[in-house]
Amino acid sequence: MNILVTGGTGYIGSHTCVELLNSNHSVVIVDNLINSKIETIDKIQEITGKDVVFYEKDVTNKESVDEIFSNHKFDGIIHFAGLKAVGESVSKPLDYYFNNLVSTMVLSKACIKYGVNKFVFSSSATVYGDNKVPFIETMELLKTTNPYGETKAMSERILTDTSLANSEFSVALLRYFNPVGAHESGLIGESPNGIPNNLMPFVSKVAKGELKKLSIFGDDYNTVDGTGVRDYIHVVDLAIGHVSAIEKLNSGVNVYNLGTGKGTSVLEIVNAFKEVNKIDIPYEIVERRPGDIASCYADANKAKKELNWEAKKDINEMVRDSWRFEKNYNI
Ligand code: NAD
Ligand code: WQD
Repeated sequence: MNILVTGGTGYIGSHTCVELLNSNHSVVIVDNLINSKIETIDKIQEITGKDVVFYEKDVTNKESVDEIFSNHKFDGIIHFAGLKAVGESVSKPLDYYFNNLVSTMVLSKACIKYGVNKFVFSSSATVYGDNKVPFIETMELLKTTNPYGETKAMSERILTDTSLANSEFSVALLRYFNPVGAHESGLIGESPNGIPNNLMPFVSKVAKGELKKLSIFGDDYNTVDGTGVRDYIHVVDLAIGHVSAIEKLNSGVNVYNLGTGKGTSVLEIVNAFKEVNKIDIPYEIVERRPGDIASCYADANKAKKELNWEAKKDINEMVRDSWRFEKNYNI
C-alpha cells in the first residue's frame, strides 16, 4: 500500500513509518516539524534502507493537503499529527481544538474527495475517563479532564459520523495506552521539548543527571503500592499495531485498544529502570497531580482477535530501550 503518514517525524509516527517500510509499504510523510526534527527522515531511511517522500506542511491547511493528495494516489492514511501536551491544552485550549480538530476534518474531506478509503486515527485511552479498569472498547466514554482529551473524543465522533455518511470510508480508532521505549537501533525515540511531563522521559532525564529527582505524584491510591498504575506499551509494538490495523481494516468504524492489558505502578517502573540499567533514580513522594486517575489499563483482547496483534515487549525491554536512546542519542 502507499500510505500517507501525518506527523510521521514524531515519536510514534517515526516508529510506525519504520514498521510500514519493513512490511514493504511505501510511505509519504507530512509534518510541520512543530514537535519533531527533519533529521528523523534520514534516520527512518537509515534504519530501513528505504526512501520516503517528505512534505514540510501543516495539515490544517486545506491547500497544502490538497496538493499532497493530488500528487499521490494513496491507499490509506495514518493520522498522527496533533498537539499532545495535556497541561498546555488547559492553558491554550483554542490551539489544541484548532490544530487537532481542523486537521482531522481537512484530512477526512480530502480522503472523501480523492477516494482514499482507509483512515487510521491516533486516539488515546484518555477518552475512557475514570472508568472501571480494564478499559474495554464497548464502554461508554466518560468526560476527560482536559481539552487535549476532548479533541480525541471529538475527533472520534467526526470520523465515526463521516464513515456513517460515506459507506466506503473505513476508520480505525486506535486508543493508545502509555507508549514508552525507543527503536532498538537507538536512532529514533521520544524527545520532548523542555521538562518532560510524562513519567518515562522524566525518569530518563533523572538517570542522565539532567534532572535531580523524580517527583512521584501520590502514594495513596488504591493500587498495588499506592502509586498510579498504567498500561505501558513499547512504541515498536504500538507501531506494529498500526501496520496490522491498516492491513486488516474492516469496513465501517473499528475501535481498538492498543495496550498490553497489564498495569504497572510508578514504583515498579522506577525499580525496573534501576535494576535493568544499573543506575539510581532518586525520588520523593509528593501530592497527587490534578486530573490523574488511580489505574488505567486495557482489555487488549479485541485487537488480538481481530487484528491478530498483541504487544510482545515487557517492562524490562521498555526501560532498557528508553535509556539507550536517552543516553546515546537524545541531546
Ligand atoms: P509527537 O508530538 O512526537 O508527534 C506528533 C507530530 O505531529 C509531530 O512531529 C508534530 O510536529 C506534528 N504535527 C502537529 N501538528 C501538526 C500539523 N498541524 N501539521 C503537520 N504536522 C503536525 O507525538 P506522538 O507521541 O508521536 O503522538 C502521535 C499521536 O498520538 C498524537 O495525535 C497524540 O495525540 C497521539 N497519542 C499519543 C500518546 C503518547 O503518550 N505519546 C498517547 C495517546 C495518543
Ligand atoms: C504516568 C504515571 C503519574 C510523571 C498521559 C496523557 C494521556 C496519554 C499518555 C496522550 C501517572 C505518574 C508522571 C512524573 C509521576 N497521552 N508520574 N511523576 O498521565 O497516564 O497519560 O500520557 O494521549 O492522555 O494524560 O502519563 O506518563 O504523565 O503518567 O509520578 O513526573 O506516572 O501520576 O501515575 P498519563 P504520564
